[in-house]
Amino acid sequence: MAVNRAKQSSPLLDLVGNTPLIEVPVFQKEFPRSSVYAKLESMNPGGSIKDRSVSRMLRDAQADGLLHDNKIVLDSSSGNAGIAYAMFASALGHKVKIVIPDNASAERRQRLEAHGAEIILTDGVLGYDEALLEVRRMYEGNPDIYFFADQYSNESNWLAHYETTAQEILSQAPKTFSYFVSGIGTGGTITGVGRRLREERPDVQIVAAIPPEFPGVEGLKPLGADHINPAIFDRSVVDKWIEIDIDASRSISFALARIGIFSGQSSGAYMYVVRQILEQDPEAHVVTVFPDAGDRYFSVGLWEP
Ligand SMILES: Cc1ncc(COP(=O)(O)O)c(C=O)c1O
Repeated sequence: MAVNRAKQSSPLLDLVGNTPLIEVPVFQKEFPRSSVYAKLESMNPGGSIKDRSVSRMLRDAQADGLLHDNKIVLDSSSGNAGIAYAMFASALGHKVKIVIPDNASAERRQRLEAHGAEIILTDGVLGYDEALLEVRRMYEGNPDIYFFADQYSNESNWLAHYETTAQEILSQAPKTFSYFVSGIGTGGTITGVGRRLREERPDVQIVAAIPPEFPGVEGLKPLGADHINPAIFDRSVVDKWIEIDIDASRSISFALARIGIFSGQSSGAYMYVVRQILEQDPEAHVVTVFPDAGDRYFSVGLWEP
């Protein structure tokens, strides 16, 4: 077999992180003594927060000798991680295979294909869990040809957020902030940021946004006894769990757009949770993340009037 010489680095990977933290004054009239800040993760080169974990997983795998030359990068993804794998791995000269539920948005699927990734579709009705089971079957059937990144179990995922996202929040946010809000896809964001805040700002409450089983929120995973729970997700960092109301979150997405912030579905959901916090604690200062931008959600109807 011809050896495909992979690259060790790409300037694209160096562009990840250092995203802006901006004030989001959408609830300012109702709660004038509060403040809300969000990190605009759509400013990453692949357009989402997953650039952080994926670039870190690829770099660590190179350093550990797991990702080299002919290895095919393999994982399951709700979409954003898939885009990050496809973009960075093709920049490094690797082939990519992504297992994805067949109801993932057309924008995401087309982006994967544009980068030359091979898409393996699983039944969307069976959810993310089926994509996860399928990717494990693929890997076990042919372990030598793949670097199986396994973002749900890969320690480099949460470490990316511990070392970058959390570090940036600590240096960018006003010292008065006392809540951090995030949801759980792989749990990388909330585990990494949560662990770092536990160490350096133990007074900050970590609040988890929980999606309803149906219709769900793209990027967020239903948890609970009858679902696969991500191995890297550290539940002990969570102080409070708040359930997402999909319709109210969508209204907030529109309200954000009206003040110039065009964010994705999970960002609106996180802001719904922020609002619940402000109702209990009207003078709270809250930090959250906006994982991606609104233009990944036209085909799933987020912006239909
Ligand atoms: C849009 C969106 N929001 C939130 C998340 C959750 O992030 P994490 O995997 O770090 O828990 C993801 C992850 O895929 C995502 O794509």
